[in-house]
Amino acid sequence: WGWLGSTEAFGRLPEPNEFIVIPKSQIHCEKYANSTQAAHCLIYAESNEKVFGIYNPRASILMQLRYDGYFGFPGGLIDSGEDFVTAVNREMAEEMNLDTTIHSVSHDDHVISHWSEKKNLALHFYKLKVKMTELIEIEKRALLARDYGSEVLGTIRIPLYTLGDHYRGFPVFLKHNFIGCSKEQLIAALSSLNILTPEEIQLALNAHSKNV
Ligand code: GTP
Ligand code: MN
Ligand code: MN
Ligand code: MN
Ligand code: MN
Ligand code: MN
Repeated sequence: WGWLGSTEAFGRLPEPNEFIVIPKSQIHCEKYANSTQAAHCLIYAESNEKVFGIYNPRASILMQLRYDGYFGFPGGLIDSGEDFVTAVNREMAEEMNLDTTIHSVSHDDHVISHWSEKKNLALHFYKLKVKMTELIEIEKRALLARDYGSEVLGTIRIPLYTLGDHYRGFPVFLKHNFIGCSKEQLIAALSSLNILTPEEIQLALNAHSKNV
């Protein structure tokens, strides 16, 4: 994870990255239980069908445009006494109209957790793998979610390929503004789920337009 350590690697962030990774064995520690906690989820499908007949899409990953203008993942605050996975499944039902009788995360789907001392905030991240046909249905259902139009302004797919100019595609996407540590969550998941290699991620993070 050395390559995740440098602030420079994440491009221009609104403030220095204040989040540290919580070791897996410590995610249920009292310190975090007594702080504000939230859980979010990466919903994804593997996909090999070339985009424009050229680019390998790698996978289809869903993020959302939030009411505050940032991109982030579906999920939200853990209510008092609520289990992490109960919270993330409930929030995905509220924000995406996800049918949690069909798709839901379990403890085994935990990817990474982060802690911000400054914000007294613990953020837990999960993954939910579905088939491409299911992902398309999930996207359609999201328009009818309770929180669509208020908390959530839209579901998006992430371009994970990079065009021949070494800039458009994933590198440009990474220039957006992301809530909390959702950019770090995305990068950690892409690497640990073997969707992109650490080298590909590093290239994308360091890419700059040649036309500026
Ligand atoms: P309300 O129902 O309006 O309270 O919102 P919510 O429960 O859906 O909470 P939200 O998803 O906004 O998450 C709570 C806090 O977690 C936010 O204020 C952010 O600081 C942070 N956050 C939101 N989305 C993400 C995300 O995708 N990743 C990470 N790491 N943090 C997030
Ligand atoms: Mn067109
Ligand atoms: Mn919510
Ligand atoms: Mn939310
Ligand atoms: Mn909530
Ligand atoms: Mn809410």
